[in-house]
Amino acid sequence: MLKGRPVRIEAVGAYVPPVILSNYDLEKMVDTSDEWIVERTGIRERHLVLPGMATSDLAVNAARSCLESAGIGPDEIDLIIVASASPDYAFPATACLVQNELSARSSAAFDMEIGCTGFIYALATGAQFVSSGMYDRVLVIGAETLSRLTNWKDRNTCVLFGDGAGAALLSPGEQGEGIVGIHLGADGSQADLLKLPAGFSRLPATHDTVDEGLHYIHMDGKAVFKFAVNIMDVAISKVLSQVGKEPKDIDLLIPHQANKRIIDSACQRFGIPKEKVMVNIHKYGNTSSASVPIALYEAIQEGRIRKGNLVILVAFGAGLSWGSIAVVW
Ligand code: UT7
Repeated sequence: MLKGRPVRIEAVGAYVPPVILSNYDLEKMVDTSDEWIVERTGIRERHLVLPGMATSDLAVNAARSCLESAGIGPDEIDLIIVASASPDYAFPATACLVQNELSARSSAAFDMEIGCTGFIYALATGAQFVSSGMYDRVLVIGAETLSRLTNWKDRNTCVLFGDGAGAALLSPGEQGEGIVGIHLGADGSQADLLKLPAGFSRLPATHDTVDEGLHYIHMDGKAVFKFAVNIMDVAISKVLSQVGKEPKDIDLLIPHQANKRIIDSACQRFGIPKEKVMVNIHKYGNTSSASVPIALYEAIQEGRIRKGNLVILVAFGAGLSWGSIAVVW
């Protein structure tokens, strides 16, 4: 819970790259079918970066969309946080590349990596800076090019992921509005279930690691699925009880878009009707840290969020990790 100034989400932006890869395209690449992918995941297509594009390019476009919506210039940003599991480089931080590209000369910048929960953790972190009074405007971006980390010969993973970016601008709000509840969690004992094994300090890149495909995403899908179904319930319950609300009080649930069956399970458990949950996984697949802000952006564009609405953001991912944020719009 924030202890200082109230913090609101002043504006939101998003960007997805132009190339669309459909399930039918994937049928030509690996032993899969549109029917299997739709039935097991809800995904119909995903957007991919063009050759030469990287995560910071998507992040910059999402940031520009967000700043345009806020009607402010880059000089007014105090801090940029980029959440990503697929940064341009191990270092420098993608946030620094974004800062340079935006010409946000007076802003601090850093990255956060906590898998698909990245945007939730980054939003929670950015909110602390605004709440404490240290900064007035924090730009939080979730951006991913998971297509670069995907083994396009592995049908267990390559049908799932997509590229994209979303951004939210945090600023001081009025009492009772904005971010009213935050729950974060992690369980490192399950870290092996979802990882990119090689290319860093544990297992530096060698010809062998490349030959074995250890620079690609490795996931025990079934185990992560089980974890996700359970942790969605925990994360939603915890943040609701923190703000003294019940599932029936939720005006819009914006969950991480990893699998439609995981979202359906949470909605069934809490009795949340379809019209109160944002789902766009069919268009973008799992965009990791970008999925919640892209969904939030689309929900606003579609007029699904009104002033005073209780919006719950919730995500889970590598770590394993999870988090939820309650926002009074
Ligand atoms: O955001 C980060 C967190 N990640 C997640 O939340 C992912 C969580 N996991 C999932 O969403 C699901 O576990 C998957 C979508 C990854 C897999 O769905 P599943 O229903 O758990 O399938 P499965 O792994 O149990 O596989 C069932 C069958 C297997 O065949 P056999 O052994 O029953 O003959 C797989 O080999 O489906 C097969 N299969 C496929 N068939 C066609 C696996 N991938 C594919 C595919 N196309 N792409």
